[in-house]
Amino acid sequence: MLEGITSEAIVERGKKVVMNTYGRLPMTMVKGEGAWVWDSDGKQYLDFVTGLAVNSLGHSHPAIVRTIQEQAKEILHTSNIYWIPNQVALAERLVKHSFADKVFFCNSGAEANEAAFKLARKYAKKNFGEHKYEVVSLENSFHGRTLATLTLTGQTKYQQGFNPLPNGFSYAALNDIEDLRSKINNNTAAVFIEPIQGEGGVIPASAEFLQEARTLCDQFGALLIFDEVQCGVGRTGKLFAYEWSGVVPDIMTLAKALGGGVPIGAMLASDKVAQAFQPGDHASTFGGNPLATAVGCAVLDIMLEEGFFEGVKERSEYFRQGLENLAQKYQTGGSVRGQGFILGWPVSKLGPEIVETCLQNGLLINCVGGKILRFLPPLIVEKPVIDKALGILDDVLAEIW
Ligand SMILES: Cc1ncc(COP(=O)(O)O)c(C=O)c1O
Repeated sequence: MLEGITSEAIVERGKKVVMNTYGRLPMTMVKGEGAWVWDSDGKQYLDFVTGLAVNSLGHSHPAIVRTIQEQAKEILHTSNIYWIPNQVALAERLVKHSFADKVFFCNSGAEANEAAFKLARKYAKKNFGEHKYEVVSLENSFHGRTLATLTLTGQTKYQQGFNPLPNGFSYAALNDIEDLRSKINNNTAAVFIEPIQGEGGVIPASAEFLQEARTLCDQFGALLIFDEVQCGVGRTGKLFAYEWSGVVPDIMTLAKALGGGVPIGAMLASDKVAQAFQPGDHASTFGGNPLATAVGCAVLDIMLEEGFFEGVKERSEYFRQGLENLAQKYQTGGSVRGQGFILGWPVSKLGPEIVETCLQNGLLINCVGGKILRFLPPLIVEKPVIDKALGILDDVLAEIW
């Protein structure tokens, strides 16, 4: 397609024809294997971003490649006006390993949250009346870029320029039980929470906060919705992040890692709640198509192999300790937070500069809010590769801190 052209030339051509919605780094990834990627100039990098928590099994995992090839030979797409065997198989796996009874498939995190939002409103109105449509989400959250999901997103910078926004939304402070209590009432249809805020700076919700959210939702007949688009599907060292707290939601949204790089989203709900949707209430042309759901099954089958999550826990703890040692060594201010392989390292200065210097030194990392280095390595990353990443970070900090 654009072979034999330098990264620089691709960036120049891209600026002319691709819409200017991202502040992109001047890097063009064209090949990947495991934790490694290569750019179009042949330079190799260690990938600790994984397409923002998507390539959790690393790049070109043989089982995923095989699944895509085999499925492509059979059938890629049909329609949800027919039954899709792979979709049934993926739904069965998700149901078996979660609190949920039913699954709706779509193509992205925002779509999964949009579906959750619609289901919650439908459920509330049907069971309690027209007054019950308000939604509480959290300050600093991130739920997507459709009009409803950016309104759910508790960060005004994402909302500016898009007024009027849908109404019925309010925001509570994360881990502030009193504030949450003050925002929930009889009109509340649902409370949206990321068990770990990802875009907000890798900030975990405390178990007490989640428990109180559950109690308040039960008290006021509201649905508790966990957005596990970023922190779900193995990222934290369990299949779902909610398993750490033991607090069970009514609805959960997934995307990113579920497709191993093929776009997919899913909205899971208990039977009681799912019943609010009837044919015609919601739909998606591509949602849960044979290809995406075949890959989803392959992803889950690998993660559910015995010992997979033990490995994630052990190696992520090793990485976290390495980061913590560097934070101490350079006195970067603040300790490393997160769970498993979604880790945030607050730095008092130079966040974007560290990211850029790491890029030049062959390590891809990311920075949120200018001050939190975010690490989302593949769950399969081995200790020698972790050592390599820590070595690059050490060199970069020695150079610019
Ligand atoms: C927690 C969370 N929810 C929703 C989204 C939106 O997902 P998508 O970009 O696939 O629409 C994201 C994306 O980063 C996310 O982190």
